[in-house]
Amino acid sequence: MKWLIMYNIVLLYSLVSMISGYAVDKYTNDENKPDAHLIVISAPTSQDDYYQSKYDDIINFDIKYANSVIGKDNIVVLGDSKAIDRFKPHLPDDILFEKGMWDIWMRDPTTVNPYNPVQFRLTPASYENDQTLADNVQNFFTKCFKSLGVTFDETPKDESLFMDGGNVVDNYADKIVVTERFMQDNKLTKDEAKEKLKRFYQGVDKVAIVPVDDPDGLAHSDGMVMFISENVALVTNYAYNSTLRNLTLAELKTAFPGIELIEDADTWTPKDTSKCVGGNAACDKTIPSACGLMVNGVLTNKYLYIPTFKKPTDQSMLNTIQSKTNQTVVPIEALGVCEMGGNVRCLSWQLTGENAKRVIQAARNKVFTQYC
Ligand SMILES: *[C@@H]1O[C@H](CO)[C@@H](O)[C@H](O)[C@H]1NC(C)=O
Ligand SMILES: *[C@@H]1O[C@H](CO)[C@@H](O)[C@H](O)[C@H]1NC(C)=O
Ligand SMILES: *[C@@H]1O[C@H](CO)[C@@H](O)[C@H](O)[C@H]1NC(C)=O
Repeated sequence: MKWLIMYNIVLLYSLVSMISGYAVDKYTNDENKPDAHLIVISAPTSQDDYYQSKYDDIINFDIKYANSVIGKDNIVVLGDSKAIDRFKPHLPDDILFEKGMWDIWMRDPTTVNPYNPVQFRLTPASYENDQTLADNVQNFFTKCFKSLGVTFDETPKDESLFMDGGNVVDNYADKIVVTERFMQDNKLTKDEAKEKLKRFYQGVDKVAIVPVDDPDGLAHSDGMVMFISENVALVTNYAYNSTLRNLTLAELKTAFPGIELIEDADTWTPKDTSKCVGGNAACDKTIPSACGLMVNGVLTNKYLYIPTFKKPTDQSMLNTIQSKTNQTVVPIEALGVCEMGGNVRCLSWQLTGENAKRVIQAARNKVFTQYC
């Protein structure tokens, strides 16, 4: 009799599993979900004094952002043991991976193009022009994730072609945008720059090279423009400088015939420096704040994660964006991190396919290697 009851319980259990999809849902991330991107974010390490005064703000942002991504796209959160302990009460354990990165701004040293990933050489723009430090930051990342089985084309890095991930914005189809900083860093003419980018950025045949909006700063295009669908882009509002505004809009229109451009409601200037109370390392006075920069969002196949700032114009901009895209707009409040000069996109590394699978499984199964 007992075995029959057991048998029935097992049968019932498998039936319930099939109906509820329990077997599928037992992990937070679903690496087989069609079209899902993996977003990887990273908390500061406890040894890093630079972020100390913003530590709680960054941890709280990471928790909020990760919880907004769960169930939509996939997410993995990196951090040292202190950060992981902070995350554990708020985030599922199977998305946490105990590995502190040297830099929380995952966009820059990692890879670009989630579909055909490629790595350029990290510029020293974020590291007080210390190229050795930039190389070390990038190597630390690269060794770790290669040891987990993540693969990407390193040719541009090996050829010393400089570009931060934050300086390339894509629509995952045919278009990318970089700033003139790419030409300067690599001593290339506009035509040469476009040719190099088309060679390494697979699938792209239209490149816009816009002027820089913060000549003394990072000069990343992801603070200037973002694709909200294949042929619609949101552009930072440069009403304070009509030369910059005209040049930027004209370049985008020339490079991308037929593109629809939407300007942000409020202007942003590089003089919008840190709003951190008291002023401290993470709110470096030399780096313009990214507060108000709605273009620093993350585009995935089904979703658009758009930073908000508790501004009166947030909601109307979200509505406008939603009316121009088939992606579902997901607002992510970015006050607390934007003071440091970046927000949602700057903090995110994006992957798909086999690479995403390797990272999701490493976090889930707590796979650690010599380098990771
Ligand atoms: C920018 O474009 C507007 C509209 O085309 C024009 O009126 C204005 O003179 C231009 N400004 C500059 C500085 O080129
Ligand atoms: C306006 O933008 C142009 C083009 O980027 C730049 O050369 C100029 O210095 C800017 N002017 C001001 C006042 O920021
Ligand atoms: C949204 O999807 C529809 C149907 O596939 C398509 O016709 C339309 O062009 C898409 N709109 C945008 C903004 O991509």
